[in-house]
Amino acid sequence: MKKMQSLCLINGEWRAARSGSTIPVTNPATGEHLADVPQIDQEQVLEAIRSAETALPAWQHRPARERAQVLRRIGDLLQERQDECAQLITLEQGKPLRESLGEVSYSANYFQWFSEEAVRIYGEIIPSDSANKRIFVLKQPIGVAAAITPWNFPIAMLARKMAAALAAGCTFIAKPAPETPLSALFLGELCQEAGLPAGVVNLVTGDAAMIGSTLMASPIVKKVSFTGSTEVGKLLIRQSADTVKKLTLELGGNAPFVVLDDADLEKAVEGAIYGKYRNAGQTCICVNRFLVHESVAQTFTDLLVARTRALVVGNGLDEKTSIGPLINDAARDKVVGILQSASNDGATFVLGQEACAATSRFIPPVVISQVKPSMRIWKEEIFGPVATIATFRTDAEAIALANDTQYGLAAYLYSGSLSRALAIAERLEYGMVGINDTAISAAQAPFGGIKQSGFGREGSAHGIEDYLVLKYLSVA
Ligand code: SIN
Repeated sequence: MKKMQSLCLINGEWRAARSGSTIPVTNPATGEHLADVPQIDQEQVLEAIRSAETALPAWQHRPARERAQVLRRIGDLLQERQDECAQLITLEQGKPLRESLGEVSYSANYFQWFSEEAVRIYGEIIPSDSANKRIFVLKQPIGVAAAITPWNFPIAMLARKMAAALAAGCTFIAKPAPETPLSALFLGELCQEAGLPAGVVNLVTGDAAMIGSTLMASPIVKKVSFTGSTEVGKLLIRQSADTVKKLTLELGGNAPFVVLDDADLEKAVEGAIYGKYRNAGQTCICVNRFLVHESVAQTFTDLLVARTRALVVGNGLDEKTSIGPLINDAARDKVVGILQSASNDGATFVLGQEACAATSRFIPPVVISQVKPSMRIWKEEIFGPVATIATFRTDAEAIALANDTQYGLAAYLYSGSLSRALAIAERLEYGMVGINDTAISAAQAPFGGIKQSGFGREGSAHGIEDYLVLKYLSVA
């Protein structure tokens, strides 16, 4: 592996903090020190914002076809250097290498998709009420856009924000998560190699609260896209008021996975394994609650336990590993706390009870049954390899249980009857519903939630709209 980039990208230059301060980045699997990234001060964040402002006119007026070519090149470079990039993701994030390779390809897809959308930002001509008037609608970039990205998909979440912003003609500043900045800085190198002009993309690392509030307070930054907790999302909504900033928020989830009595149970369990244990359960769309018709609950549980037992927990660099470590000790403590409360509340541990006393970040996969809506484990996003099972009798009861949460990101539904599944899916209060499918993330699909899971959409043709504003011309 080449020497990893560990400086910030500001105005096309790789910069250390003026003070020389740094933040260590460590491997969650081994505790090994990987690199130190700059802890920049507020003046350097403001410099990044100004450089995005300076770069904006040339980038937004560059022909869309040329913007598209640069985006396409970034995607191609990601694919060409997929092994190096995947290894970096696993080193700093912990997920199994084959998942990291999947994340690189998912990221490259966003650059390809938005390179194709960049050239299709069509306006409208609307018939007016008078013969001598014309009404034209233009779509223009919103301006300087910023992103605050999470550690669970260190490159994919950045890619889907950056690619949409650049395609729309916006310039961009991103703050990657402090746990996983190295993949983002790697992407910054590819942006430069692809010929992106200085200042169009800026990457800043340092104190999260200072950088976040500086971005939010800046009148130059017209839009912020955030993926992370509902708690931080609410803070950003409050902070956006002073500058009336546009937000896209992809926040927490509490995904139900409904198994009807007519479901193909083998297929359901196949989907359950992917939908629950991907990234050690640390995705916003991971299944949080299995809701299974009582007539098939025992069979489903037995099949799920058998498949779960075969999963291998270990270092993501080991090719046998199917579940890597949790990101840090705080994440482990939160999962252990939720498990202990489930145990105290009377849930039944079918597999992995020893996780209640875990002291390592390598949590064994857990399956719990007899879960009830009154329990903490029902209400909170677990963010760990823990499958919880509750039962229902009727479709109406399944819908009510599935909707019994403040969140509305993703839901899953398994049934042998498409018309029954569609009728239920229409009643599920979620932004995304997988029917007989848990692999729902795709560059061409609109990713996002409702209720306290946020607003706005990423990916698809809708994703670019979040970086565009309408201007209407009335021509007499
Ligand atoms: C997330 O966890 O927020 C993203 C998951 C995905 O894009 O598949």
